[in-house]
Amino acid sequence: FVPVITIDGPSASGKGTVAQRVAAALGFHYLDSGALYRLTALAAERRGLRWRDELEVAQLAGDLDVVFDGAAVLLEGDNVTEAIRSETVGIGASIVAALPAVRSALLARQHAFAEVPGLVADGRDMGSVVFPDARLKVFLTASAEARAERRCKQLSAAGEQPDLAAITADLESRDERDRSRAVAPLQQWPDALLLDTTNMGIDEAVEQVLRWWKD
Ligand code: CDP
Repeated sequence: FVPVITIDGPSASGKGTVAQRVAAALGFHYLDSGALYRLTALAAERRGLRWRDELEVAQLAGDLDVVFDGAAVLLEGDNVTEAIRSETVGIGASIVAALPAVRSALLARQHAFAEVPGLVADGRDMGSVVFPDARLKVFLTASAEARAERRCKQLSAAGEQPDLAAITADLESRDERDRSRAVAPLQQWPDALLLDTTNMGIDEAVEQVLRWWKD
C-alpha cells in the first residue's frame, strides 16, 4: 500500500509547483500527468501521425519510451524537456487527452509512479479516475484574473511582453473547453478539499496541503 496525494485543478492554477514542493517536502515521488499527454502529442507529431487518429495515437501512448530523470524528460533517449512545453505541443496534448483510448493507454503508466514511500500526482483526473483511493485529494484553483496575472509574470520573466486581457480571455475559454469535454472534464471531485489560492502565495498553499496531510 502506497500513500497518494492527488492535486487537480485548472490550467495555470499553480498545481504543478505546489505538487512538486509537497512531494519534495515529504520525500515522495511526483507524477506530472500533463507531461505524459504532452509527450504523446510530441511523439505522434514526430511519427507523422494525426492527433485525432485515436487508435494509432493510443498504441503509441502505450508504447512510449519515456524516462523522467529529475527535471529532465527523455523521449526515445532524446531530451525533450523544453520541446514538450511549446504552445503547439500543448494544443496537441489537449486534443489527444480528449481521446478515451489514449487515456486508458496511459493509465497503467501512471499507476506505475505509485511507489514507496509515496506519490504526489498532478492532473485533472488524478483523484477521480487514476487514483480514486488516494488518501488526500486537493482541488487547487484561483480566479481567472489571478491565474492570468501569474502567467503574465512568468512570461515577463522569460523576456516576453504579455497582454493581460488576452491571457485572461484565453484562460476563460480554455476553462470552458476543459469543463465541457466528454472525458475527464474539469471538476472538483466530491471528496477533494478545495484550496483557493487567489489570495495566497505558493508557500502558504504548500503549507496548507502539508497540514491536511498530517491531520
Ligand atoms: O497547464 P496546462 O493544463 O495547459 O498543461 P498540462 O497540465 O501540462 O496538461 C496538458 C494537457 O493535457 C491539458 O490540455 C490537459 O487538459 C491534459 N491533461 C489531461 O487531460 N489529464 C491529465 N491528467 C493531465 C493533463
